[in-house]
Amino acid sequence: MGFSLRYLLLVFSMLSEFVDGQSESSLPAPSVPLAVKSPYLNAWINGASPGSTWPTFWTTNRILGWAGYVRVDGQTYQWLGNDGTAANISASYVTPTRSIFTMTAGSLEFNVTFLSPIEPADWNKQSFPFSYLYIDAKLLDNRPHVVQFYSDISGEWASSDNTNKVEWNTTETSSSIFHQIQRSSMQPMVEANDMAEDSTVYYAMAKRSDMTWQTGTDVLLRRNFSDGSLLKNIQDTDFRNIAPIWPVLAFAVDLGTITQTSESLVWAIGVVRDPLIRYVKGSGAELRSSYFRSKYDTVNAAVDDFLSDFDAAKTRALALDNKIMSDGVAVSTKYADLLALSLRQTVGAMDITVGRGSNGKWNTSDVKIFMKDIGTGRRVNAVETLYAALPALLYLNASLAGPLLDSLLEYQASPRYLNSYAATDLGASYPNALGNNTDISAFGVENCGNMLIMTYAHAQKSGDESLIARYYDLLKKWANFLVANSLHTNGSSSADGQVNPDMSNLAIKGITGVFAMSKISEALEKPDASDYKNKAIKLVTDWEGLAISSNHITTYYGVMSSWSLIYNLYAARLLNFSIDDQLYQNQDAFYASQASAAPQFGFPYDTNAIDAAKSQWTMFTAATTTSSTTRDMLVSMVYERAFFNGSVVPFPTTYNTNNGSISPIGGQASPAQGAMFSLLALNTPDKLIALISSPSKSGPDVAVIAGAVVGGVALILAILGLAYFFSRRRQQCKVMPRCFGIEIAPSSTARTCSSLGVLHDEHHNALPPPIMTTKAAAAAVRQSSRMDAPYQNGYPKPQSQSTAELSSSGTYPSTTYPSTVYPSTAAIGDSSELRAQVEELRREMMELRAQRLQDVPPPLYRDLPAGNVSRSSAQPMQVETVN
Ligand SMILES: *[C@@H]1O[C@H](CO)[C@@H](O)[C@H](O)[C@H]1NC(C)=O
Ligand SMILES: *[C@@H]1O[C@H](CO)[C@@H](O)[C@H](O)[C@H]1NC(C)=O
Ligand SMILES: *[C@@H]1O[C@H](CO)[C@@H](O)[C@H](O)[C@H]1NC(C)=O
Ligand SMILES: *[C@@H]1O[C@H](CO)[C@@H](O)[C@H](O)[C@H]1NC(C)=O
Ligand SMILES: *[C@@H]1O[C@H](CO)[C@@H](O)[C@H](O)[C@H]1NC(C)=O
Ligand SMILES: *[C@@H]1O[C@H](CO)[C@@H](O)[C@H](O)[C@H]1NC(C)=O
Ligand SMILES: *[C@@H]1O[C@H](CO)[C@@H](O)[C@H](O)[C@H]1NC(C)=O
Ligand SMILES: *[C@@H]1O[C@H](CO)[C@@H](O)[C@H](O)[C@H]1NC(C)=O
Ligand SMILES: *[C@@H]1O[C@H](CO)[C@@H](O)[C@H](O)[C@H]1NC(C)=O
Ligand SMILES: *[C@@H]1O[C@H](CO)[C@@H](O)[C@H](O)[C@H]1NC(C)=O
Repeated sequence: MGFSLRYLLLVFSMLSEFVDGQSESSLPAPSVPLAVKSPYLNAWINGASPGSTWPTFWTTNRILGWAGYVRVDGQTYQWLGNDGTAANISASYVTPTRSIFTMTAGSLEFNVTFLSPIEPADWNKQSFPFSYLYIDAKLLDNRPHVVQFYSDISGEWASSDNTNKVEWNTTETSSSIFHQIQRSSMQPMVEANDMAEDSTVYYAMAKRSDMTWQTGTDVLLRRNFSDGSLLKNIQDTDFRNIAPIWPVLAFAVDLGTITQTSESLVWAIGVVRDPLIRYVKGSGAELRSSYFRSKYDTVNAAVDDFLSDFDAAKTRALALDNKIMSDGVAVSTKYADLLALSLRQTVGAMDITVGRGSNGKWNTSDVKIFMKDIGTGRRVNAVETLYAALPALLYLNASLAGPLLDSLLEYQASPRYLNSYAATDLGASYPNALGNNTDISAFGVENCGNMLIMTYAHAQKSGDESLIARYYDLLKKWANFLVANSLHTNGSSSADGQVNPDMSNLAIKGITGVFAMSKISEALEKPDASDYKNKAIKLVTDWEGLAISSNHITTYYGVMSSWSLIYNLYAARLLNFSIDDQLYQNQDAFYASQASAAPQFGFPYDTNAIDAAKSQWTMFTAATTTSSTTRDMLVSMVYERAFFNGSVVPFPTTYNTNNGSISPIGGQASPAQGAMFSLLALNTPDKLIALISSPSKSGPDVAVIAGAVVGGVALILAILGLAYFFSRRRQQCKVMPRCFGIEIAPSSTARTCSSLGVLHDEHHNALPPPIMTTKAAAAAVRQSSRMDAPYQNGYPKPQSQSTAELSSSGTYPSTTYPSTVYPSTAAIGDSSELRAQVEELRREMMELRAQRLQDVPPPLYRDLPAGNVSRSSAQPMQVETVN
């Protein structure tokens, strides 16, 4: 190749300074996401040569005809696809939401940006299966030149088989023009070669005076553009097969004589299906639609909105990218690279759906999310894949995990599911989620452990109690299965396929599942909480006795020569299951001692799995480390394969440690890469677990609070102080007025203001201050009544055994804050109204703080007039309008 390609990261500090993260050091990503927004809108390209390769579906064995050309002073160059003279590429950038190519054609420099929005705060937007492509251009010689752009898509997007007949048309709305194409005989809910055979593909542009469009045969339209014509605004109505007389749907823009573009040229590409999912329900199945349909009567209206929202969408994408990249760079630039490459494929494997109510109307309380096990098969909500992907979801918006888990839980709580342990998935034929009742108890420990851990983590990080409350009985059944079966894994298999009576790694997952149950019960104030906690502690003590030999955890109990990546310790970290730090340190030292013998692409995930590495489990393990050296070593191992140009496939999970080969199953484009966020997910704050009412709960009080927070935290402090004051007066309790101050402790502010560096090295210690639950507060008071003189130099004295037990709650900050400062149990019990008010205030505070951390506008801002919202001028945020 006659040009050099730099792989850059765009990193902005919070002050929007431009920081170029290692601009020359990184390798180019071999395969780059172009439009990755759903299991079927999932297009990638060889990152080295967009102007001389065709984009493909994630499988890489299906070309997706998507062509782009530019004409500069009558000379035509190709910037996407492979049937012309390629433009030169001078740089490429990947951020979590965007892939950007800087290209030159003659004296024209232009940036081609593929933006797949990630919209954790707005599920209407997230569910809309569309991506943007936009171009900005300028003349390097600063002199006027004549410039035209052209782009088309072919029928290859609408079916995996070129012998299928397709039909198409072009529609003009008040604000946009779009083409659509689909199979003449769509096959509902049918996939072939992983592509949907029931989709309608859209290619759209907002109306502009300098645009033309046409549908017709590829060579004719492209040749005419190349020869100097524009498009004729006419439709080809001779419906035919995808090939060999390829119909394409084209747009061209005649910029005329320019020195630079004044605004971006924007296309939107989408793959729409309806219904989206068939889901097991009652004694049959229901058809579910994409969530955005509950907001839009027609797809046309949604397309118009998507195009007119471009500027705001881009602003949101930049804010999210900046946040993720600065959080990532605080660990290392390699780590940030992995975050950038992995997120679209994680989020793009999901479909967010809405059901219809008994009245036949959309029921927006009935939201379920489905994830395809892309790269591995067609399994729906494959439990071990969800487990791997969970960190990205917890980081983006922990609420996203709820409807994913609910799909599994609702089915397994129904009479149709008969097994006493958790299922592996909802069936193996996406988009059909019909459940699977096969008796496969061998995976019971794996799946019960995963489900309990995930269901608790969802409550812990979202504050939403609804799943643990609704499915308490089911979860308890699974916990009991784990109590009986997790320490000795006789008869069990891990999801990785390992089988042995005494597998340390699988056992600790099961035991952590029992601990998760104790946390669930604790949050729900169930009397069995301490029973599960005692069982978990007994099991983990026994496990430590069995699993550790010569200072490391062995793969199998007592087999001294064996070792593995004990990646399930990640769940123990996430849930704050009290495991001695020494154990982690010993593992760090042990992994480091094996480094010199490691193959090129890193450690196998299990010494019994000869030569097989798994990126997701390597990264989970990196997140269990206490040593930044060991952490960076493991991150580098993942990086080595992710940016390996020897085989050009979307970021795979599973590969040969020696040569990087992904045969036979590589997990390419898998959502399991959400595991890249495992280091960051540990730093997300825990929330008060409570029933979350409907999304529209924000009343006038909330607006007041929002205002106070915008203005500063002082008013909140005053309100809380007042509330506290009253409670204290009423109860005459002798407590110190530091109550609730912890929630706005300065360390989170520090993280927001100087995000670079805070997480460096000590990432495990950079946790934002934990939040105390009401129940923990009550427990603390009960406990404190048995303790006197809790202060030593202003801090509580070291915990006794019993406080340690009570505080192993993932939420109770016992080491830093004196337990006596909380209102007494009596105060909580007696003034329930005040308590509710204060809880509400604290909830709002936490949510606002979490959102400030994420640098996205809290939804509460929406109620305010746009002019009242002031943000950093360097990064103006758009205020969303509620439609
Ligand atoms: C690409 O760069 C080479 C070397 O600078 C130059 O000869 C060629 O004309 C360039 N091609 C385009 C399309 O600009
Ligand atoms: C997470 O999603 C929920 C449901 O759409 C939304 O109410 C909430 O604001 C989102 N939180 C964040 C931090 O984006
Ligand atoms: C392309 O992007 C780079 C990096 O952000 C920027 O420096 C350059 O000015 C952009 N070029 C155009 C034509 O917008
Ligand atoms: C285009 O074709 C689709 C599918 O056949 C149809 O639903 C739609 O009404 C057509 N639109 C126009 C403008 O003809
Ligand atoms: C290509 O251009 C020629 C000359 O203008 C015209 O006759 C022909 O119809 C065009 N072909 C198509 C497919 O538009
Ligand atoms: C809407 O969905 C919720 C949650 O599944 C359910 O409780 C409620 O009954 C549904 N409403 C209607 C009208 O069907
Ligand atoms: C159910 O799971 C079993 C075991 O994994 C598998 O063999 C079978 O094909 C699955 N059945 C369906 C309908 O997905
Ligand atoms: C595993 O369980 C089987 C059946 O319960 C039993 O026969 C066997 O001895 C057990 N193996 C070990 C190593 O405990
Ligand atoms: C792959 O990467 C290596 C090492 O950076 C480089 O020498 C080689 O040219 C690259 N190959 C391709 C096809 O980009
Ligand atoms: C985690 O648990 C330990 C005790 O096991 C406790 O000291 C610590 O405060 C907890 N951390 C969080 C964030 O809750």
